[in-house]
Amino acid sequence: EHEEAQLGLMVNGSEKILGKGVPAFLPPKAGGWTLNSSLVLMIRKDILRFLDAERDVSVLKSSFKPGDVIHYVLDQRRTLSISQSLHSLLPDVSPMKNRRFKTCAVVGNSGILLKSGCGKEIDNHNFVIRCNLAPLVEFSEDVGLQSDFTTMNPSVIQRAFGGLKNESDRVRFVQRLTMLNESVLWIPAFMVKGGEQHVERVNELILKNKLKLRTAYPSLRLIHAVRGYWLTNKINIKRPSTGLLMYTLATRFCDEIHLYGFWPFPKDSKGNAVKYHYYDALKYRYFSNASPHKMPLEFNTLKMLHHKGALKLTTSKCT
Ligand code: CTP
Repeated sequence: EHEEAQLGLMVNGSEKILGKGVPAFLPPKAGGWTLNSSLVLMIRKDILRFLDAERDVSVLKSSFKPGDVIHYVLDQRRTLSISQSLHSLLPDVSPMKNRRFKTCAVVGNSGILLKSGCGKEIDNHNFVIRCNLAPLVEFSEDVGLQSDFTTMNPSVIQRAFGGLKNESDRVRFVQRLTMLNESVLWIPAFMVKGGEQHVERVNELILKNKLKLRTAYPSLRLIHAVRGYWLTNKINIKRPSTGLLMYTLATRFCDEIHLYGFWPFPKDSKGNAVKYHYYDALKYRYFSNASPHKMPLEFNTLKMLHHKGALKLTTSKCT
């Protein structure tokens, strides 16, 4: 009920997103979707008033000294001390500085990707963003292999890599990171307390194995800024999901953003079951109040933006 009320507001919100002089709906082409370049520019400019993804994508080495104490972004009473290894992995300049792309893919982790055959199409984009170190090789037909930017919530270390306690988990983890080559690994290390030992182990493994990937740790203001942007468009998202964060960041770098693997519903449009993740047995959590996210609300927002030509949302098979 609550969500419906917010979606009601979204109609006003969409006017806000559109601004003046841009037709609300461009007539769809035969293929069904047309990019609305003026809307894309408008959204980029609007988001820039809240955050600059080039800067906020990561804190820099010069922002801290080892031993500095910071407050967690979403848990201000708890603190974290910047370790030597964390400090040494902070980038000197933004890993996204001056990077611009014609087309980008943001790949969510929904089971809707299974049997989609979208792998080739995803890999054909100029820049591919993926979430939470999801496995690729076994699913490459459907999800592709190219990765230019990969997020990693600290919780993934426990969930998918046994907390890196055993040598076999560490080997598997290092193999996964090696696949990233020189692309960006984005670790939200300052959000909430709980994952600091995991982040520390990850940092040490990256250093010990001299991995070439480029680490990034989002700025302390990023999540509030992203939330602020969506709030001014009347979209009340308490804590944006990684996927929505990535779309918001990508508006800065990408002219055409294609989303895949976004489907926060247990059934597809034909009523067939859809796994929460394409690669594991995790269940839908967001129906309970325990979930911090409002993925269905986010999804409806993205769908609206798809219809307006601001982004392309693919939830069916790729041809
Ligand atoms: N996603 C989706 N539908 C699903 C699963 C995921 O739309 N059934 C999108 C969400 O935007 C999500 C992103 O794909 O943030 C990556 O999925 P996941 O790794 O599951 O992210 P979460 O851990 O659920 O979200 P967060 O990391 O922010 O807690």
